[in-house]
Amino acid sequence: MTCESLTTAGALLAARLSRARRAAVLTGAGISAESGIPTFRSGANALWRDRKPEDLATPEAFARDPGLVTGWYLMRLRMLLDALPNPGHTALAEIERRFVERRAFFSVITQIVDGLHHAGGSSDVVELHGSIRHWRCVACARERQLTADFVRSESERGGPIECGCGALMRPGVVWFGEALPTHAWALADAVASRAEVFIVAGTSAAVYPAAGLVAIAKRAGAFVVEVNPEATEATALCDLVVRARSGEFLPLIV
Ligand SMILES: NC(=O)c1ccc[n+]([C@@H]2O[C@H](COP(=O)([O-])OP(=O)(O)OC[C@H]3O[C@@H](n4cnc5c(N)ncnc54)[C@H](O)[C@@H]3O)[C@@H](O)[C@H]2O)c1
Ligand SMILES: [Zn+2]
Repeated sequence: MTCESLTTAGALLAARLSRARRAAVLTGAGISAESGIPTFRSGANALWRDRKPEDLATPEAFARDPGLVTGWYLMRLRMLLDALPNPGHTALAEIERRFVERRAFFSVITQIVDGLHHAGGSSDVVELHGSIRHWRCVACARERQLTADFVRSESERGGPIECGCGALMRPGVVWFGEALPTHAWALADAVASRAEVFIVAGTSAAVYPAAGLVAIAKRAGAFVVEVNPEATEATALCDLVVRARSGEFLPLIV
């Protein structure tokens, strides 16, 4: 059912959540749109130096031209330097706080790599696609958290980022064609299978296996709710559809 009134939908969802012992939200790039970060297929992400994200976010692209791929990630990191969590992120953190208060569980399963759920106060967060702030060496697996100063100076310098061992550093994100981190996926699968309420917010639900979590939750009997201004591939599975921006709607639940 599509709910036209945001207040009614908010009250309905709040009632469901208040009765649930376990609930979760699957988020995508749309949750950070109101923080000024473009989704995958919009703004500076949609096309960069004439290349689509699908042609940059792959192991093959990095092997072919590591400087180019590094440059794209540094551009995305620069957009992040001043980005703040928006009311959508903070509402989810507040919902988690209330669940924890009554010893219940509310998990964020996210496809975003910008770290804004943590910045917004959520602590039960599964980062399915990793983090754009954590880089690792392709040879010795040394890890490095990129600071704002480092991002600025490397952007000016250009070219790939070297590790002390002489090999290259790559962003700690999951690229197209790569498997999800085993532990993160197992956790997400378990959370989706046990959720009584499952919210799908700001994702086109087109990138698998993450998108498959909606069906997993639905099959296991969850009440599934979509929060997205546009129809997605998950819409047909949803018990409640809210056509709104996440930063506008999610605060109405708390
Ligand atoms: N911020 C980030 O970390 C970031 C940014 C871009 C892409 N990505 C990557 O993009 C991949 C693509 O999948 P995706 O589904 O996350 O992104 P997507 O770009 O495919 O879809 C974004 C969805 O968000 C919706 N949306 C836009 N603004 C919204 C708002 N204010 N409130 C609610 N919904 C809104 C759109 O209608 C769309 O359905 C993921 O693998 C992810 O790792 C991450
Ligand atoms: Zn190294």
